[in-house]
Amino acid sequence: MSVPFLDLAAATRDLRNEIDGAIAEVLSAGWYVGGPALARFEEEFAAYCGAAHCVGVANGLDALHLSLRALDIGPGDEVIVASNSYIATVLAVTTAGATPVLVEPDPSTHNLDPGRVEQAITGRTRALLPTHLYGQPADVGALVAIARRHDLRLIDDAAQAHGAGYKGRRIGSLADVTAWSFYPSKNLGALGDGGAVTADDPEIARRVRVLGNYGSAVRYINEVQGVNSRLDPIQAAVLSVKLRHLDRWNERRKSIAAYYNERFGSLAPTVPQVPEWADPAWHLYVVQHPDRDGFRARLAERGIQTLIHYPVPPHLQQAYADLKIERGSLPIAEKLAATVLSLPIGPHMSDGQVEQVAQAVAASS
Ligand SMILES: Cc1ncc(COP(=O)(O)O)c(C=O)c1O
Repeated sequence: MSVPFLDLAAATRDLRNEIDGAIAEVLSAGWYVGGPALARFEEEFAAYCGAAHCVGVANGLDALHLSLRALDIGPGDEVIVASNSYIATVLAVTTAGATPVLVEPDPSTHNLDPGRVEQAITGRTRALLPTHLYGQPADVGALVAIARRHDLRLIDDAAQAHGAGYKGRRIGSLADVTAWSFYPSKNLGALGDGGAVTADDPEIARRVRVLGNYGSAVRYINEVQGVNSRLDPIQAAVLSVKLRHLDRWNERRKSIAAYYNERFGSLAPTVPQVPEWADPAWHLYVVQHPDRDGFRARLAERGIQTLIHYPVPPHLQQAYADLKIERGSLPIAEKLAATVLSLPIGPHMSDGQVEQVAQAVAASS
């Protein structure tokens, strides 16, 4: 029996009755853009994050890009992002018209290294945009301190971090703005695309909402040149159902990660390093292996499906050739891209599947 990387249908199957009921309610209510299902989810997710406001948008990329625009960050401005983040983090900056400044991560946590951030700040830097990569919280406290010292804004890319904790507080209210993705494979995933922004400042939340609604707060009156980026109410209703199960699912992820850590401690793959202040959401369980591709092939022979997050760092993508950052310039991101491997983890894995992965890793490492 093979082990899939992630069984997305399992979550839907598990909650099928609740999801059917929630969708039926939206169908009957007759609000197919905006309306009560969206308002309810926004309220619930804001409360879950400990944030004053939540605004649903169409996807995580828009959540990031509209957050930047809401903070008036655009052409001529620089934004610091981790050099090993997913391409969407960088795309959000360039879509806003600003310039991404790629700073290397801490090689053990894979997250933006606060120790390197200050050297990258220039007179044009406007914001820090850390990603809580793989669901491991970045060192938000250190980044907030740097942002305050240099009068910068802090925008969290929490697309992979639903339910993650930093020093006892949930990600979602620790930065000026937090951007979320509800892409189906996320810890809190919709049945299609979805995203949101959480913030304490009502003006930031208002601006995101206006920007995502053609730049309009009052119908047919446009204050800015906005876009159409709204969270679909059917998706919002599904997300309300799933939110009720998120903590339970994250607990299951945590117990799988703990089991892997215990089993892999003395093997060749390097297991994720978690600072004592971090409570990861374990969106991904990412090991490093010096012979990553060979290791991956051996696991595949044993029926274990794995993925690589991510095989090519943003600065080496053709899309960012114009940044003119040579191969070798960001060695940590480049080494991670060559050595990381994501093993199956998810709330619906059975104990038998977890054991199968553990045995395959032992036999393949
Ligand atoms: C770190 C990170 N940022 C942003 C995004 C963009 O989210 P979306 O796919 O919903 O646009 C993703 C996910 O795909 C992500 O993993």
